[in-house]
Amino acid sequence: MTFPQQRLRRFRRTPALRELVAETRLGIHDLVAPLFVRESVTEPVPIASLPGVVQHSRESLRREVSELAELGIRAVILFGVPEHKDAEGSGAWDPEGIVQLAIQDIRADVGNDFVVMADLCVDEYTSHGHCGVLDGQGSVDNDRTLELYARVAVAQANAGADVVAPSGMMDGQVAAIRSALDSVDATGVAILAYAAKYASGLYGPFRDAVDVEIADGGNRQGYQQDWRNSREAIAEIRADIDEGADAVMIKPALSYLDIISAASEIVDVPVAAYHVSGEYAMVHAAAERGWLDLDAVAREQITAIKRAGADMVVTYFARHLGEAFA
Ligand code: PBG
Repeated sequence: MTFPQQRLRRFRRTPALRELVAETRLGIHDLVAPLFVRESVTEPVPIASLPGVVQHSRESLRREVSELAELGIRAVILFGVPEHKDAEGSGAWDPEGIVQLAIQDIRADVGNDFVVMADLCVDEYTSHGHCGVLDGQGSVDNDRTLELYARVAVAQANAGADVVAPSGMMDGQVAAIRSALDSVDATGVAILAYAAKYASGLYGPFRDAVDVEIADGGNRQGYQQDWRNSREAIAEIRADIDEGADAVMIKPALSYLDIISAASEIVDVPVAAYHVSGEYAMVHAAAERGWLDLDAVAREQITAIKRAGADMVVTYFARHLGEAFA
């Protein structure tokens, strides 16, 4: 009897052989760096639960973007941390709001060499921390919230965003935003829809990053998806594309590789995935204890997201990976 000696191992024998047959290659152009910019600070403020990530000042954000550009990273998604919050989140569409100013700064510095995306939501700006305006019963009023999103989209487009990324999970948000953009002739501004977004426990550190606490111990289960379900993710993705989404995002990433995989098979638009704050923080926390190797796990996780079918990955590891690839 002959043994199947090394039958599957031959192309694993040397790095050169492995490189030759690698199916998935993670590159600098696959990465989108999420960045936070905070109003009224002059120095960056560290975020305890997101090691290595900060709330930038306007100036430090400009430096960060130029350093990322030097590493070859070509895309960022911006989140604002306003000084004042109110019931509607008006800072989100104020032309002088922190994200609008930051978009203009980046545009002035890097022109069209860089893709500037803006998260489009109001939760960072509302006093109650929800992704929309509340009705009398304390739940988010879908249709009144769409009017607010339309205003935010116009403000972000006027500031110079290439891509707006609605993350609030209101029904009809993509259609409302597309028509608002078109009505001000911002027809070239693309919509990256957070199409399948789950009510995940993995957003914890992000809420520290943007100083959000949901009022009355509330949560987002009334509008974000239930993680027991996959079919509704497909319905969400189809609805967003029908409404005019130019690309769709799945979020979080690692617990939802099945959704990423299914999405990449059924859509004909780019698929993005968001490796979220909790996913990043877990790797850091374990690495700090010496329980795993941060670099190895970062590469493995972000590559796995691409292998599942994502064309681009939003990740707090963008800078780390950019430095590692350089
Ligand atoms: C909503 C938004 C959230 C994240 C991105 N956009 C928070 C939420 O939905 O609760 C989370 C991102 C992360 O955890 O890294 N504006």
